[in-house]
Order: sequence, then C-alpha cells, then structure tokens
Amino acid sequence: MEEAKLEKIVNQHREMENFFSGGLIVKSSESTDIKKELEEIAEEVYKCRKCELGTLRRNAVPGEGNPKARIVFVGEGPGADEDAQGRPFVGRAGQLLDKIIKAMGLKREDVYICNVIKCRPPENRDPKPEEIINCLPYLQRQLELINPEIIVALGAHAARSLLNNNKPIGQLRGQFHEYCPGMGTSPMKLMATFHPAYLLRNYSDDNRAKVWEDMKKVLVELNLPVPNYGKK
Ligand code: URA
Repeated sequence: MEEAKLEKIVNQHREMENFFSGGLIVKSSESTDIKKELEEIAEEVYKCRKCELGTLRRNAVPGEGNPKARIVFVGEGPGADEDAQGRPFVGRAGQLLDKIIKAMGLKREDVYICNVIKCRPPENRDPKPEEIINCLPYLQRQLELINPEIIVALGAHAARSLLNNNKPIGQLRGQFHEYCPGMGTSPMKLMATFHPAYLLRNYSDDNRAKVWEDMKKVLVELNLPVPNYGKK
C-alpha cells in the first residue's frame, strides 16, 4: 500500500479512537509532539496570573527535562535560585537532587523535574491551599503528557497534593502509591520520599539511607541496575 494512503488510514483510526474515548485515551506518542505540548503548558504558566504569586515572581518555573522520561521528580515549588533562573531545582536542594539522580545511575536529562507550584511563594513560605488548587492542573497535564512509569514526590507537599491526602511524609515515604490522573487515564505509580531540602537540614546517615532505599525501589520497579553503595 502507498505510504500516504497507509498514513491516512492510521490517522483516521486514531481520530475514531479519540472520538469514542472523548480524547482521553489516545495520546500522541511522538516525543516531539509531547515536547511541543509541554512548551505550550510552559507558555501558559509564564502568562499565568491566577494568584498573587504570578505577580510576585521574577520567573515562573514550569519544569524541564525529557518529554519521554520514565521518572518524573516533583518538588514543592521554586525557591530563590529557581525564581532567579526560571529552572527547577538549581539551588542547594537541586544540587543534592542531582547527586541522587547520579547515584541512581541516571542523568538529569534522562528524567523530568518540576514542581506542584510554578511560582515562588514569598520568603519561601508554604504554598496556600488555593495556590495549590490553581496551579495543580498544570502539573496534572504535564504528568498526563509525559505519562511516566514512576512519579517521585519529593516531600510532603508534593506527595499530599498528588495523593490528595494529609498524611505525614514519614508515613507516605518508602512505598508505592497510586496517582490517579483522572477518568480514562490509568493510575501512575508514585514513590514518596524526603525532600532534598529536608535532607540538607537533617543530614543524618539514617535519613540518607531512607532516601536511598526509596530510590532503590524505584530502580527495581523500572528494571534498572541498582548501584551498590556502602557495601564493603
Ligand atoms: N525546592 C523545590 O521544591 N523545588 C525547587 O525547584 C527547588 C527547591
């Protein structure tokens, strides 16, 4: 069959499926398409003024990374360094996150990194519930597009916002949970762990070991090799 004809039939088939699933199931699988759609979300974030954070920020921080990442790391919200550069996790907590990613045998470019809140709350205060409610749809759309095999929620705010509960991070970390993106989309696995900023403030062997245990579970789940640290 001619290539053009075949392409037409494939497109018709996709359109039909899309029509019957209300546009919820059939998603473009091309990484360039996903990249483009992520850029469109970023453009919306740059223009967003849904809450006061939109007027107080220097730069919005939509997120960055591999559009086809198997792992998406989700933090709470930008700090001063991220606000200055418009990029997620570039300050001290970001340097520690980089080390964690490297320890996992991965590169920053392999994963996607973003936050629940896309603009810096003044003085790094906790985001207000209404700010999270306004901002969450951006993250939800990013996750639906990337469709990672695992979401790593960094800290209580990220884990609670995505799991829609109020449990302490000590109870949530270390186990897989299900993040439910919405009707018609399959649940995604979510691992909660301590936020790198918490780890910096509480830099004990015990806390570091806990984060490493959590990341090892992620690697095992993805069938990736688990580097052997600290074993004599
Ligand atoms: N802390 C976060 O939660 N996100 C960042 O991007 C940086 C620090």
